[in-house]
Amino acid sequence: MKRLMITGGAGFIGSNFVHYVLEHHPDYHVVVYDKLTYAGNLDNLRDLEGNPRYAFVRGDICDAALVEQTVREHKIDTIVNFAAETHVDRSLMEPGSFIQTDVYGTYVLLEAARKFGLERFHQVSTDEVYGEVLDGASVETDPLAPRSPYSASKAGGEHMVHAYFVSFGVPATITRGSNNIGPYQYPEKAVPLFITNAIDNLPLPVYGDGTQMRDYQYVWDHCEGIDVVLHKGVPGEVYNLGTGVETRNIDMARQVLRLLGKPESLIQYVADRPGHDRRYALNCDKIKALGWQSRHTFEQALEKTVRWYVDNEWWWRKLKTGEYLEYYKRQYGERLRQR
Ligand code: NAD
Ligand code: DAU
Repeated sequence: MKRLMITGGAGFIGSNFVHYVLEHHPDYHVVVYDKLTYAGNLDNLRDLEGNPRYAFVRGDICDAALVEQTVREHKIDTIVNFAAETHVDRSLMEPGSFIQTDVYGTYVLLEAARKFGLERFHQVSTDEVYGEVLDGASVETDPLAPRSPYSASKAGGEHMVHAYFVSFGVPATITRGSNNIGPYQYPEKAVPLFITNAIDNLPLPVYGDGTQMRDYQYVWDHCEGIDVVLHKGVPGEVYNLGTGVETRNIDMARQVLRLLGKPESLIQYVADRPGHDRRYALNCDKIKALGWQSRHTFEQALEKTVRWYVDNEWWWRKLKTGEYLEYYKRQYGERLRQR
């Protein structure tokens, strides 16, 4: 395993993973294959320009011809699939692209893995496929019960991965990660939205009563977990990947404000997300048995994340224009006016 095609490698977690791999495996080559949707950003990879172990191909994972050409020309032996439409709120507005990329696109990549006899196909999935978990913690054998178009699409992608393992022997693994935070996260997701809004003294729109809970993990820990599964995971297996520590959204918002020295009056409760899953929770014993453990507490992860956004306005300020403002108006305009 030395020549990795990292799909979605210009996005948040994918670009962190590219850096992680190049830093930890000095003999590996990485090809980022990315469509550069609104969430893809070459600024995330700009320090790698000219690196002989890195190449970039702009392409859609639904484009079978270009996927195959890339695998062939770059002598790829492993695909790690991060490419996806990823924002739950957008999946409620426009589910079609989620089904296309997260299900059909995964199938196209699996076909390439099968045709070229790749050593490994790794699917980056999410804890959201379990659906809302009001009590206890999900184990990997629990049934999938997704409730949003996003999580249903991710579950569909996972089912294709499993089918290709069982039916065609494609050596595939899956990780189900919890909420990531850290550098290069597009400011539509709650944590970077709250941080960048707070810096600008804009409202922090907290959905519902703010008591929904998420397991926020530092993106670098997630990358390390994927790397562990790539090297020590067993084909055909699924691994949960999170910290096991839950934080209420309102507490996360308050901590962001505290870290930035901003007043709590910036918090605005707004109309809830339809079908909002109250809670996810992961039992991560299986990946811990491979030697992985989370290195950051929630407080450390949030502090590092806040510091990064404070220090890197060049990265996010230009994103909060154009298409982003259209989306923001559509998602929050009415909600914030109702206050
Ligand atoms: P992101 O939205 O930041 O990035 C997605 C990337 O995929 C972008 O670079 C985009 O251009 C690319 N992409 C989208 N459609 C494509 C297509 N058809 N062909 C090629 N490239 C395409 O996403 P993220 O938050 O970094 O998430 C990465 C993966 O991890 C996703 O599969 C997501 O479901 C999963 N995941 C995310 C989290 C999280 O908290 N963000 C947690 C668990 C799992
Ligand atoms: O759990 C893993 C998932 O985490 C990933 O699979 C998804 O790709 C990723 O987007 C994320 O999904 P969430 O829906 O949990 O993340 P988001 O940042 O959108 O929301 C986090 C919580 O904050 C959630 O309970 C909804 C709430 N929220 C979100 C936004 C955008 C708000 O209260 N206000 C907001 O404006």
